[in-house]
Amino acid sequence: MVVVEPYYADDAVTLYHGDCLEVTEWLAADVLVTDPPYGIAWTKGQNNAAGSNAHAGIANDSDTTARDAVLDAWGDRPAVVFGSFRAPFPRNVRQVLVWRKPVDAGVIGSTTGYRTDTELVFLVGPHPRRNPTRSSVLTTNGGVANYRTGHPHSKPTGVLEQLIDWLPGVVADPFAGSGSTLVAARSLGRKAIGVELEERYCEVIAKRLAQDVLDFGGCRMSHPWVTDWRDELPYRSPWMQWQPDVVECDHHCRRCDAETARLRRHADLMSDLAAHQRDVIEGYTREVANLTEANAALRRHIDRKEAP
Ligand SMILES: C[S@@+](CC[C@H](N)C(=O)[O-])C[C@H]1O[C@@H](n2cnc3c(N)ncnc32)[C@H](O)[C@@H]1O
Repeated sequence: MVVVEPYYADDAVTLYHGDCLEVTEWLAADVLVTDPPYGIAWTKGQNNAAGSNAHAGIANDSDTTARDAVLDAWGDRPAVVFGSFRAPFPRNVRQVLVWRKPVDAGVIGSTTGYRTDTELVFLVGPHPRRNPTRSSVLTTNGGVANYRTGHPHSKPTGVLEQLIDWLPGVVADPFAGSGSTLVAARSLGRKAIGVELEERYCEVIAKRLAQDVLDFGGCRMSHPWVTDWRDELPYRSPWMQWQPDVVECDHHCRRCDAETARLRRHADLMSDLAAHQRDVIEGYTREVANLTEANAALRRHIDRKEAP
């Protein structure tokens, strides 16, 4: 048996550099959460206007062979697999979820007026029975900049956390990319095994994990008080509707605590804004009342002058 040395390892995450069909350590995990090459032959041209570089594409993306081989090797166990509307679905899909990307996603290249801002998430194989308390539409807070990692197809760790936290055990991601699944698993206190073919992305993963920084990655987290300040505002500018929907946060990780503190500071600012708006509106209301009164006095004066 060939022993493969990990490219990176800590208490929670083990990462291998190589082809996941040859480096098979990930098969020892309990749940597969992965974002494979979609099978859509994606490439990207240079876009100077948008400030983005060209990209030659993702390995094994010409069709779904790599994804399907991984699913065959995984067998009849729970799997969560990202995918595209534009490629054949995997076999044995239990349910299709939709990931709705942030408001600034999917603009470039869209010609119909509708942004290309959704991707699919396939629940494959057996999944635990649960009450239907969650929407099958997954959302992301913040903008795309929130989950940029240097990989063109990186996914928000917040979305991955939602997917991982319902499925117990060690997480496998044989198409690790920039390691978002591994980061998400570790931040939930879970173990994970990843494989990535391209060394440049292994480096990104190792850096991400070694830094041990708070990775906000578009966390879906929001708190009831986030809407409180919105409800208080007498005037809502259009951007305010982009604020997150209220979903109770059921994570109690360091990242959520830090995000909570940030949102609280934001809420304080918004409540100052609400007070300011109220002052301005009261000022205008008084001004309108004064003008109405002056207008009525003028009308009385004119009427007296014009009276025969
Ligand atoms: C869609 S990306 C994953 C992006 C990742 N979810 C993230 O957030 O960064 C798919 C990755 O699979 C890798 N890949 C393709 N074929 C592979 C194979 N046979 N073994 C391991 N990795 C592979 C690609 O290099 C690419 O980085």
